[in-house]
Amino acid sequence: MSNYPKQVSIVEVGARDGLQNEASVIELPVKLDFINGLLRAGLRRIEAGSFVSPKWVPQMADSADVFKGLTNGSGVTFSALTPNEKGMLAAIDAGVDEVAVFAAASESFSQRNINCSIEQSLERFEPVFTLARQHNLQVRGYVSCVMGCPYEGDINPNAVLAVSQALLDKGCYEISLGDTIGTGTPGQTERLLSTLLTTIPATNLAVHFHDTYGQALANILVALQHGISVIDAAAGGLGGCPYAAGASGNVATEDVVYMLNGMGIHSGVDLDALVATSTQIFNHLNREPASRTMRALLARHHNMF
Ligand code: HMG
Ligand code: MG
Repeated sequence: MSNYPKQVSIVEVGARDGLQNEASVIELPVKLDFINGLLRAGLRRIEAGSFVSPKWVPQMADSADVFKGLTNGSGVTFSALTPNEKGMLAAIDAGVDEVAVFAAASESFSQRNINCSIEQSLERFEPVFTLARQHNLQVRGYVSCVMGCPYEGDINPNAVLAVSQALLDKGCYEISLGDTIGTGTPGQTERLLSTLLTTIPATNLAVHFHDTYGQALANILVALQHGISVIDAAAGGLGGCPYAAGASGNVATEDVVYMLNGMGIHSGVDLDALVATSTQIFNHLNREPASRTMRALLARHHNMF
């Protein structure tokens, strides 16, 4: 186990990637309670919303109010997706701590998700980078469809490398590798990372795996073996992507934390506090959580009484 990182940083994306894909729009006070619960559970990097077109993603239309309703604390980063200048200006006005741009390794997915080519998306991000520099904000870069695309099938790791490097060159400090439709396997993860790590340091990479085919934890293990220590996850396994039919939620934060705890890798997350928060949001959504760890812990809890 000696090659694994001793500490891992979890980027909690449930309030954005999770709730953007829920059919029902969650009211502002419920969202704020959820995010404050994530904070109490020890999560320190929280993606709390996105400044995108409300016509495309109505679930995120209240993001300005979400950020205005949160209390910034030291050591806590509340981030938001900003696809263009308009989104960036709104994010700055709302007081975000960090922003994220999102590109794809597949042309078809880029068109469906943000209505432009990969090249055009990089141009649209220019004002985001300029404003970020002026306002001292760090920019994270997502690359979607790093292993598979709903329209193009398998994706060549070199396509992922090209767009990741372009985002780093423009000023991103970290690239989050999105297996948007969750089709990737450990073998593909191994091939992808072997390609990327020839030129990009592990410290500039994060993994963002959806769990559609139940491969996310195994893929994360491969990423840990390669020295990657930033993992995106969503409380209870909330999530999906409205532009990737059939894609299920992000890997569940509880499942990641349970695995890390067992491996002696520190994440700073209190599993019981997290389950309590996730339970509230899933009760509100009136559905069962995807997280196996959460379901097991809740069942154990019920059996004790
Ligand atoms: P567009 O229609 O090409 O843009 O949208 P446009 O510039 O032609 O503007 C059209 C309308 O949108 C105008 O309004 C603009 O004002 C408005 P109208 O005049 O028609 O009333 N508009 C905006 N409104 C609010 N905020 C903005 C904004 N920009 C334009 N920032 C755009 C381009 C990118 C905005 C659109 O395609 C969009 O919002 N797409 C949604 C993308 C999205 O949120 N996808 C889900 C998140 S990505 C994801 O989940 C993947 C990830 O998790 C990683 C992974 O899993 O792989 C990150
Ligand atoms: Mg995602």
